[in-house]
Amino acid sequence: MVRKLLLANDHIPGIQGYEVYRKNGGYKSVEKAMKTMTPEAVVEEVKKSGLRGRGGAGFPTGMKWSFLAKPEGVPRYLVCNADESEPGTFKDRYLMSRIPHILIEGMITSSFALGANTSYIYVRGEYYYIIRILEKAIQEAYAAGWLGKNILGTGYNLDLYVQPGGGAYICGEETALLESLEGKRGNPRIKPPFPAVKGVWGCPTVVNNVETIAAVVPIVNDGGEEYAKIGIGRSTGTKLISASGHINKPGVYEIELGVPVEEFIYSEQYCGGILNNRKLKAVVAGGSSVPILPADLILKTAAGENRLMTYESLAEGGFASGTMLGSGGFIVMDESTSIVKNLWNFARFYHHESCGQCSPCREGTGWMEKILHKMVHGHGETKDIELLWDLQRKIEGNTICPLGDAAAWPVASAIRHFRQEFEECVMEEKIKNSIQF
Ligand SMILES: Cc1cc2nc3c(=O)[nH]c(=O)nc-3n(C[C@H](O)[C@H](O)[C@H](O)COP(=O)(O)O)c2cc1C
Repeated sequence: MVRKLLLANDHIPGIQGYEVYRKNGGYKSVEKAMKTMTPEAVVEEVKKSGLRGRGGAGFPTGMKWSFLAKPEGVPRYLVCNADESEPGTFKDRYLMSRIPHILIEGMITSSFALGANTSYIYVRGEYYYIIRILEKAIQEAYAAGWLGKNILGTGYNLDLYVQPGGGAYICGEETALLESLEGKRGNPRIKPPFPAVKGVWGCPTVVNNVETIAAVVPIVNDGGEEYAKIGIGRSTGTKLISASGHINKPGVYEIELGVPVEEFIYSEQYCGGILNNRKLKAVVAGGSSVPILPADLILKTAAGENRLMTYESLAEGGFASGTMLGSGGFIVMDESTSIVKNLWNFARFYHHESCGQCSPCREGTGWMEKILHKMVHGHGETKDIELLWDLQRKIEGNTICPLGDAAAWPVASAIRHFRQEFEECVMEEKIKNSIQF
């Protein structure tokens, strides 16, 4: 029996509204935290749970919370990152539209733990209908006394605001998000100082992903140790996976971390196998920013072990033969997919979304797009493969924020694992050109 913690009540009619959510155990974590626990004890439970940030980097949430500076007389903030603009990732949209109150509840319990009296949910601007859903849920929570002054008679006050995003992928990077939240252009900040010391309005701030904050609800309800029993090793709990591409059942699945990748792709419970019974060619396991792996390496590690849906197993083999769980944007490609065309598509995205602050990213993403455009449209030359390789090397690690890495890794992995396809692409076009002349 698969345990679901976030989507357990997904099937209940009316769960989007306050009454039904509350009747089904909603807001218990707020009651438990505020009536029976200290803020420090809540942080301790989150530490015990082993929860890792679900926004992509997988940083331990309890540890991040304990880094929050607490200077006397300075406000602290919790900011929820609901910008979700990475291709292949749509799990936060699903959670917020289906069960908005789990996010509001998580925000209240987490804000209490962090000592924040003002918190924000920064939502991707294009998710305008979700902004309305969240605003309605927040109004309901105020009306029921979960937000506002003196919540549950404890003397604790909290105001929660929804901020529509700036319409750019870069605004999901936590420091660009904070700039945008302050009303400025969403350019990433140089770190340090980290947001835990100097975040929004220059004050200590925690930025967490939607799913991370929602996971605080079952952690407080059931205890961190219970949560940590799910999963394998340092990959504890459940994870929402956005499954898309050439599969029979695309959608959002809540998995227990540790499910074999093969089971996730082929079982009826999840993706239901490859569309039209075609062969699996490749998978981008964690959103467009992570390395693409060919079928043999996504199903088994280079050492021949079954690959599991965990942070560690997917990363096994490093950049040579592994990838990352990232945000859980699982894009499946069948044998009919052109890896070069797919890469060109990603490259267009990263070039368009580069904020332009760092030259390697601003210029490099443009050149990668141009070269891939050339290859896909019949003008590629053999030397372009080396040039593409060289370009991604010069971007990776040389930018203020990881957007540069996110643009470089797909290129590096595609060349590493599918070099022949690049060569064929160049060759075919050479033959075509020679016929023309
Ligand atoms: C270009 C870029 C875009 C990002 N977009 C998002 C996003 O939409 N949502 C998100 O939670 N994290 C995103 N991140 C990661 C955040 O910077 C940050 O690590 C995350 O919000 C922290 O939350 P977590 O610890 O709960 O994962 C992005 C990072 C980069 C570099």
